[in-house]
Amino acid sequence: MEDKFEILKEKTIVALDVDTLAEAERLTRLLSPYVDKFKVGSRLFSAHGPVVLDAIDQCGGKVFLDLKYHDIPSVVGSACRVIADNHPSVFLLTVHASGGPAMVAQAVDATSSRNDLDVVAVTALTSLSPSEMGLLGIGNTLADWAEKLGSLALDAGAQGLVCSAREVEHLRSCFGNESIFVTPGIRPNSARNVRDDQTRTRTPAEAISAGSSYLVIGRPVYQSADPVATLKAIAETL
Ligand code: C5P
Repeated sequence: MEDKFEILKEKTIVALDVDTLAEAERLTRLLSPYVDKFKVGSRLFSAHGPVVLDAIDQCGGKVFLDLKYHDIPSVVGSACRVIADNHPSVFLLTVHASGGPAMVAQAVDATSSRNDLDVVAVTALTSLSPSEMGLLGIGNTLADWAEKLGSLALDAGAQGLVCSAREVEHLRSCFGNESIFVTPGIRPNSARNVRDDQTRTRTPAEAISAGSSYLVIGRPVYQSADPVATLKAIAETL
């Protein structure tokens, strides 16, 4: 049986939704003995740009670049090519499946020179609630919507999907074992009662047994008084 700490390292991506490069570097160095994958999203990237990707590399981390591209296909393709060609630390990047099949296909094509870089498509944001679906004019349930977008993105060539851990079991049963399933909205037991903007959460152990390839964990780790202790406590539950 795999050691709990090996599972933690293999499966966990820590979201670095912090404001400064110094804080991102501090967290990467501090957590590197336990995790080797870090997510850079629009908050950190807007503050410091691509320099962040190389800084995390130098601190020993691989990067999940979560900029959720959603634009016309040629623009998304060009942006993905720049990342693929210039930032070897990036192993995963996101596009929105709702950008459509041509957009997803261009992203995949633009990164095809890199066997170690996968494109994953965001289905429905894990913060979306059923009532917001109505406001967006989407008649489907969240689960149906995620399935529809997932099918579209995988048919267009995406290597995987970003989805709620509450949907991963169903999506895996629809789309099989080849695809990568990345699940944000993970809340360890210690953070179960914390109210924030995530509505469809699961614990790390629940997400793994539901079939998640990678767990994205942000605030429960970087806002913790002792992020290392939080990761160790998560490992104990796996
Ligand atoms: O702090 P928390 O653990 O909620 O962080 C979740 C991270 O996952 C955030 O960086 C957010 O941008 C990202 N994410 C998400 N839902 C998606 C895709 C990405 O919450 N569908």
